[in-house]
Amino acid sequence: MSTPPDIVKRVQKLRREIEHHNYLYYVLDQPEISDAGFDALFRELESLESGHPELLTPDSPTQRVGAEPLAAFQQVRHPQPMFSLANARNEEELADWHRRAARLLADRRVDPAAAAFVTEPKIDGLAISLVYENGRLARGATRGNGEVGEDVTMNLRTIHAIPLALRLKDGEQPPPVIEVRGEVYLPLAAFEELNQERAAAGKPTFANPRNAAAGSVRQLDPKVAARRPLNIWCYQIGYAEDFSLDSHWEALMWLKEHGFRVNPHVKRHRDFQGVVEECRAWEERRPQLDYDIDGAVVKIDSLEMQELLGYVGRDPRWAIAYKFAPSTAVTRLLKIGINVGRTGALNPYAIMEPVEAGGVTISQATLHNEDDIHRKDIREGDWVVIQRAGDVIPQVVGPVIQKRTGVEEVFHMPETCPSCGSHTVRPEGEVVVRCPNKSCPSQIVESIKHFVSKGAMDIDGVGEKLVERLFRLGLIKNMGDLYYLKREDLIGLETSRSVNKKGTEVIHRLQETSVANMLKALDDSRRRPFHRVLFALGIRHVGSINAQLLAAHFHDIDSLMAAGEEDIARVEGIGPVIAEAVREYFGEPHNLETIKRLRKAGIRFAQEAEEDRERPLSGRSFVLTGTLAAIGRAEAKEKIEALGGKVSGSVGKGTDYVVVGENPGSKLRKAQELKKAVLTEEEFLKLIGSAG
Ligand code: IVH
Repeated sequence: MSTPPDIVKRVQKLRREIEHHNYLYYVLDQPEISDAGFDALFRELESLESGHPELLTPDSPTQRVGAEPLAAFQQVRHPQPMFSLANARNEEELADWHRRAARLLADRRVDPAAAAFVTEPKIDGLAISLVYENGRLARGATRGNGEVGEDVTMNLRTIHAIPLALRLKDGEQPPPVIEVRGEVYLPLAAFEELNQERAAAGKPTFANPRNAAAGSVRQLDPKVAARRPLNIWCYQIGYAEDFSLDSHWEALMWLKEHGFRVNPHVKRHRDFQGVVEECRAWEERRPQLDYDIDGAVVKIDSLEMQELLGYVGRDPRWAIAYKFAPSTAVTRLLKIGINVGRTGALNPYAIMEPVEAGGVTISQATLHNEDDIHRKDIREGDWVVIQRAGDVIPQVVGPVIQKRTGVEEVFHMPETCPSCGSHTVRPEGEVVVRCPNKSCPSQIVESIKHFVSKGAMDIDGVGEKLVERLFRLGLIKNMGDLYYLKREDLIGLETSRSVNKKGTEVIHRLQETSVANMLKALDDSRRRPFHRVLFALGIRHVGSINAQLLAAHFHDIDSLMAAGEEDIARVEGIGPVIAEAVREYFGEPHNLETIKRLRKAGIRFAQEAEEDRERPLSGRSFVLTGTLAAIGRAEAKEKIEALGGKVSGSVGKGTDYVVVGENPGSKLRKAQELKKAVLTEEEFLKLIGSAG
């Protein structure tokens, strides 16, 4: 029986729409529909495909979730070898490269002054090749030895930013074959989260984001790869049939137009001086990125010149990698210290002789847990290799065994809590050692720090150091006490000490203005919605998502407190482990005491009516800049707020959209720097039109 034509049409339309929204979300970072709207399209396609399996194709967006596991990868020969890059370790070597290339061009009767350059970040990930046949992704492979790689198509399909088909204009014909190359990477935050998760599950951690990305792409089970939020920057067109361009820059623009993610910081330079300045700028830009780079790549723009220059061995003469100071170093591990976290977990960390890596001095690094320390055979007194990747907390990679003298000591977790002296426990099957004492001072201080932190109550002006001081002075004993602090308690309070230029010690004390700001911030935090409060309480396993699920289901704290473990476990997305932790939390009299105190202070323990229904722009933060001709700033602000969004005065990490009118100011530059979605007034009106 053949499939009804209207079903075929609907399936095709859904696929196009879903891929388009995928593109807006993952490539442009500029979604147009809500998650719920996207899910609805996706579920409709899934149900049509399951009713009509004959329609299922490997390039359907539903197949991005990961196919069946493989026994081994097939080897594939690249249509054109994948080359590597020679390194320049400083500006002198960079200038040497340029001189050599210029001389060669002159020898071949080409004016070297006519050479333009392109600079790009050198992404520290895994090089891959994507072959599109007649516009569809036919195969994806790792670089391997440059000639032959592994066929990892199944895993690459799970990366949402990789187009399953080229984005073509109406009537545009794709080249019969085109190969796109790029670097797959794991964002830094995802890397840290993955390692924490692995450490908690007793699995070996990854030493750096590159290994984590490579491990994920080379997974035989595509479902595992699908769960890792891998991403890609595309930087080259390799082999192509019936297709030609004049410059690398044109290639990058072609890639962007056809649906590929091209790094927003790529730049073209008319002369070499611009290249040098940009390489300097890259070193500074590095810490602001949410992915790891190990240098900048400089390429001669003209493809004709590239061809004239050719290769030496594996390295092109037309490109060079300007590398940053290495981010690994070797130093002495003096001691393994212990932090007690807010849930009582004893977290070991390395205290080291200070050493420079990746441009900063490092003296501490995380060690995850006891099993990890033993697996890596790290001992106190060892010389160790440490690695710092971008902004990630430094890691101890492993010991330098050859440097052992025999005095190094095998580490054991303490049997008593370093903060309160209680006997520690390590529950069966868990890798984490815990302090069971609910009134352990470290646990309390850490839980107050969590309470005031950004994603929780977001109390500006009450930082970690201040929390520690207030606690030590006995001014706060739990998070509830924060709201009973008085101006008199705070004025003149010592916050830190430093040494001035003359060498005398200066004591910093809280002044009138910062106290006023603090009290205002505390007051403002009374308006945080119930789910944020629930998250801020720091119940084990209740992260911000789970807090939202619980708040949406129970509406207020009394219903949640009255609910049995099974009722809680039955909430969609919650489950028995979280339910048990919630019950346990409310079973502790001192937690009930804290809640009582917070309640008396006016903290919200129930959902407001309007929070119940998620509004179209809920959680979205806008910044307006320039003159908005059609609607004016005040009205724009009103509209955004009416739809549940927020308007803020400056562009920052939390900004989602920057709306740009005529004569925009520095906010536009900042938005571009931070890679924020920029909307013209027209686009903005469309967005609120569709949201409303
Ligand atoms: S161009 C012949 N551009 O660096 C040109 N490579 O050391 C070679 N890489 O295998 C590729 N970012 O994995 C190029 N913007 C970029 C890159 C980049 C990272 C990697 C790539 C390559 C390695 C060479």
